[in-house]
Amino acid sequence: MARFDGKVALITGGASGMGRATCVRLTSEGCRVFALDINPSGLEETAAIVKDAGGTIETRACDVSSRAECFEAVDACVATFGRLDVLANVAGVLRLVHSLEMTEEDWNMVLGVNLSGPFFLSQAALPHLFETGGNIVNVASNAGFMGQSYAAAYCSSKAGIINLTRALAVEFFKKDIRVNAVAPGGTETQMMRGVSVPKDADVRLMLRATVPRPASPPEDIAAAIAYLASDDAKSIHGAILSVDNGMTAG
Ligand SMILES: NC(=O)c1ccc[n+]([C@@H]2O[C@H](COP(=O)([O-])OP(=O)(O)OC[C@H]3O[C@@H](n4cnc5c(N)ncnc54)[C@H](O)[C@@H]3O)[C@@H](O)[C@H]2O)c1
Repeated sequence: MARFDGKVALITGGASGMGRATCVRLTSEGCRVFALDINPSGLEETAAIVKDAGGTIETRACDVSSRAECFEAVDACVATFGRLDVLANVAGVLRLVHSLEMTEEDWNMVLGVNLSGPFFLSQAALPHLFETGGNIVNVASNAGFMGQSYAAAYCSSKAGIINLTRALAVEFFKKDIRVNAVAPGGTETQMMRGVSVPKDADVRLMLRATVPRPASPPEDIAAAIAYLASDDAKSIHGAILSVDNGMTAG
């Protein structure tokens, strides 16, 4: 019996990186997955990978910063699969800019995708998760525990999702529900490969957010998400699991 046989997960950021790896991991363990992203072609690629391996996946274009789209997506997931057991909030965006030059639009976009989206999806998903004894796994970051130069919006959003995780955990103590987060460090995904450093950035200020170890493959983060989402973690509630090669160890 696989850990997720009979279960359904809604996974954001499913077009790429950790979100794709989580779709692959959970479906390999028997889960049916409903994947969201703003990138439809990336979702198609993920769906092809999962289906080639014999997994079950449906996809939907969704901008998670839109509350209305989040609620519609949860409705569509439950209409498709009849239940919801796991919400994995993986989608995220990173902008490195000098704080004095950050635009209102970029600030709102980063907070909207990284923090508001997971909250809106939680609002929509929780009534269904109460029915199944399900759980939420958020993706935070080492940047939620430490200051990183040129990343004020990103750090704020990731610190926010850490305490959003804890706040929901204590608010729903009396429900059959778990809420946890993973906090990755440097991970080999498009976010890391494609990040642009601001002009005139002081590289010495950025070195604090590095460790003398290779970056993690996204599959390692997916394994941690799968663990927290599974019954193996049934006593874990309100926890933030660092998967950062020791970056926040000291
Ligand atoms: N890569 C790293 O080093 C690293 C480190 C710590 C935390 N994280 C976090 O991990 C998570 C996954 O990122 P990744 O590294 O796999 O990056 P990624 O860029 O490969 O994947 C992010 C996904 O989010 C999607 N997305 C962006 N805006 C969206 C929106 N408005 N609505 C729906 N989907 C949207 C993108 O299209 C993309 O598919 C993010 O929350 C990120 O902040 C990444």
